[in-house]
Amino acid sequence: MKILITAGPTREYIDDVRFLSNASSGRMGYALAAAALACGHQVELVTGPVELAPPEGCKIHRIETTDQLRETCLRIFPECDGVIATAAVCDYRPKQRVSGKITKTGQPIVLELTETSDVLAELGSRREHRWIVGFALESQDPRNNAMRKLRMKNCSCIVLNDTSAIGSATNLVEVLSPEAETIAVFQGTKEVVAERLMGLIESSIAGTLRS
Ligand code: CTP
Repeated sequence: MKILITAGPTREYIDDVRFLSNASSGRMGYALAAAALACGHQVELVTGPVELAPPEGCKIHRIETTDQLRETCLRIFPECDGVIATAAVCDYRPKQRVSGKITKTGQPIVLELTETSDVLAELGSRREHRWIVGFALESQDPRNNAMRKLRMKNCSCIVLNDTSAIGSATNLVEVLSPEAETIAVFQGTKEVVAERLMGLIESSIAGTLRS
């Protein structure tokens, strides 16, 4: 299969030197890319800025802003069999990006923020025959919120994890089906969780394998 994987954070600039972003190491997405390659799949890795080296063998697309993530994913998705979305997308952008650098005045400043595009929801609306694995990072009412995201983004399943996953080497995830059933629970290093998830995608999510 050819698999699109999004990973790492996006950045939204306030001025030319300051930005809003999300806490994300990219480790889960990079581990999934490595696991998919090890299973013989082709990987298109669309990644925000992280400190990790990409696994050898994947096609890497470096992005910074949510708009760049969106444009790259919309371009690549039609030629892929499925997508795994682990990117920690910055949901808000300053209404205006100031060119140059804002000079301090000693006074508070107010930032007006607007929502960025929901990239996975857009891919979901163009899903057709493809499979879609979303991630949901939840701190409250996790199952209900994850199921709302699964439906809104038209996912084949959603991988629920909590905020303890941020920056951690390990993860505990619950995979939910569109019928709100728990398909699997995986725990361990992000590399182990990635291998198990890839196994689940191959056996039950992707249906008939194509290479
Ligand atoms: N996602 C995306 N584009 C966005 C926001 C999220 O593609 N603008 C993807 C993430 O990569 C993840 C899934 O959607 O696979 C859910 O992301 P999450 O941050 O948990 O939820 P949000 O949709 O951003 O909702 P909220 O921040 O309100 O929890």
